[in-house]
Parts: sequence; structure tokens; C-alpha cells
Amino acid sequence: MRRMLIAGNWKMHGDRVFVSKLLEDLKQYCKARDDLEWLVCPPFVFLSQAEEVLRDTPIFWGAQNVGEASEGAYTGEISAKMLQDFGCRYVIVGHSERRRIYGEGLDLVAQRFHAALKSGLRPILCVGETLSEREAGQTASIIHEQLDSAISGWGSEELVSLVVAYEPVWAIGTGQTAMPEQVQQVHEKIRNQLMKKDARLAESVRILYGGSVKPENAREILAMDDVDGALVGGASLEAKSFSEIGYVCNS
Ligand code: PGA
Repeated sequence: MRRMLIAGNWKMHGDRVFVSKLLEDLKQYCKARDDLEWLVCPPFVFLSQAEEVLRDTPIFWGAQNVGEASEGAYTGEISAKMLQDFGCRYVIVGHSERRRIYGEGLDLVAQRFHAALKSGLRPILCVGETLSEREAGQTASIIHEQLDSAISGWGSEELVSLVVAYEPVWAIGTGQTAMPEQVQQVHEKIRNQLMKKDARLAESVRILYGGSVKPENAREILAMDDVDGALVGGASLEAKSFSEIGYVCNS
């Protein structure tokens, strides 16, 4: 049985005061549950605040990206080891905003993914098609390529901590959510692709959906067979709505 993962991607939002309130609110709303894990991914500069407040709570914290190198002359980058030093358990890799706005291509995303895996951080690998790719009937091939380029070369033992997040680019921050059936279709394909590598791995890997998830639409999406949680942007900036997304699971 896969444990649901409800993950918040705060993106580039907040300041010290906002973050301190949000973390305290999360502590109040997100209670321990056997069937799900809570995770928040604040901007790097707030990780120490997250560690301070969330230590000894059922909420994990992680980062929104990771440098591909372990250390050295890489201005502006943050290594996996640094993230671990701040208690991060997970890291988002290959978010479409990184791919699109910052030009992180398949190779760089794969290197960042490898850096996370090698260090023991659990990578949340984001995959997803743009609207024009969907309209051109390329959804399956785009996602196959994004997943394949990251996981090829790794054995199933090393990939046990992998989490995949399917985030159709056209549904991110737009208020437009994919239909639950569309989501299930893609998630099933992702699981089949993992199945070709190893059936046990495919059974254990969690596949999250992301793209305008809110308490109002979470129930239908999270009820799909191959949906094992959500990667939440906008609605994760408010503790009550973030927690509500978790509480609709299996309720
Ligand atoms: P959204 O963002 O929930 O605001 O659409 C999701 C994401 O980009 O991870």
C-alpha cells in the first residue's frame, strides 16, 4: 500500500514573517496520519526556519531544486549535502518552471536528479506536457522521455525513494485542472513505464498530480487508482486549504 504524499511547493513566495505564520499554522492543521505524509518545500532561505518549527512534527520539509555538483565554484547553486544539513528529506527536480524559464534541459535535470539520489535525498521528479504538445498528441512521448532520461542507468534499488509528479504545464497556476480521467491515463502510463524496469518498483513509487489542486477538486483526483498524492502550488500557501487537500484523501 502506497502512502499518500501531500507536498507543498511554495515557489518564490513569502518573507520571514509570512513564513513564520504559515509554519505555525501548518503545525496546527497537518496532523499525523498513518496513510499520508505531509511535505513543504519553501524557498532555500527559509529552510532553517522550517527546520526549527517543523522538527518533531509530522511535516517534512524539502527544497525546490538542487545543484548537480557536490561542491565547488557554482555561484548561486545549493548542493544536496547542504540541503541535508538543513534536514531536507525531499527535493523537487525538473519542475516545468525550471525547465521552461531557466532552460534546464533533459541532461541537466538528469544530473540534478542523480545528485539528489546519490546523496540520499528523495527526488520528486516533475514531468508534464505543454498545451501545444498535448494538442499535437505528444503527451505520452514527452513524459516518457522526461522520465526515461532521469531514471535510465539507475537500478531499482536506487530508485526506491523516487517520487514522480505529473504536472501538465497548462494546468499549473492557471486554475485549469486536468480531468481526473486524463490524470489517471497519464499516471497509468508512467507506472507501466516503471513496470518495464521492475514490477516491485512500479508498485511502490508514488505518482503525484500537480496543477491547480485545491480542496474543491482534490477528492476526485486523489481517488484515481494511480494517483498517490498531490504537488500543490498556490493552495499550499494557506495552511487550512493545504491540510484540507490531505484530509479529503480516503475520507
Ligand atoms: P499550482 O502549482 O498548484 O499553483 O498550479 C503546482 C506546481 O507548480 O507545483
